[in-house]
Amino acid sequence: MQVSSFENCGAVVSGMQLAKMTDSELDSLRTLFAEHGLLFFRDQKLPPEEHLRFARRFGDIVVNKFFKTTAEYPEIAEVRKEKNQQTNIGGGWHTDHSYDEEPALGSILVARVLPNTGGNTRFADLAAAYDALSDPLKERIEGLNAVHSNKHLYGENGLYRITDLAEQLGGMDRVGDATHPVVIRHPQSGRKVLYVNPGHTIQFQGWDFAESRELLDELYAHVTQPQFICSFDWQPGSVTFWDNRRTWHMADNDYQGQKRLMHRITLAGTALNAA
Ligand code: SIN
Repeated sequence: MQVSSFENCGAVVSGMQLAKMTDSELDSLRTLFAEHGLLFFRDQKLPPEEHLRFARRFGDIVVNKFFKTTAEYPEIAEVRKEKNQQTNIGGGWHTDHSYDEEPALGSILVARVLPNTGGNTRFADLAAAYDALSDPLKERIEGLNAVHSNKHLYGENGLYRITDLAEQLGGMDRVGDATHPVVIRHPQSGRKVLYVNPGHTIQFQGWDFAESRELLDELYAHVTQPQFICSFDWQPGSVTFWDNRRTWHMADNDYQGQKRLMHRITLAGTALNAA
């Protein structure tokens, strides 16, 4: 197995097939996942059964409450955009499932149908971004909690509901909020991580929306600096495995008129502790 760093975040793992992973390769992947929080693989042969098998070897699966799943495999969510659709799933910076009391550990995304060009996924490293915050900003956010929600996306009149994505969604009755520390201690690496995201964080606990907006925008402007970001160009056989406690991601929507279909399995996590 070879490992090389990728742009400003994550690592590319080569020289192995996830479908044929040995126990010692799995141990190495756990270590790399804790170290980098974002792993990329190329040229994989990972049909849905093997995607599921790899996920189950790594952890327990948690099914997304809103996305449609494949007909045959209810644990595999479809991230689908048809040729005639304008809006894509995950088109803004977010962290999967941060609105859950026990946010997802990670997500494993496999390319199934790709546009000829475009459709990259961008990632941001929130451990590196936290480390680089100024001391006064670190002091301001220490001890804060933030509320994460999905109602503004999937609830009645939610953003996704009023677009042509609505047909890809279910489960409006499952909307809800959760509160998490703004700076978490990563359960595996022990690093401090900034745990707020533009997709789901709506306010700091005990603050009003306007006050919260101002500080959130300041934090988001910091995280979206180029030194914390990378952009992964999908090829047939590409797989990405990211840590939802440490990264943000967003799917570029720059391939109008073409289809893109990804299969995503999300792994269950635990409640998050303040750093
Ligand atoms: C997602 O938000 O999980 C989808 C990412 C992608 O389609 O690139």
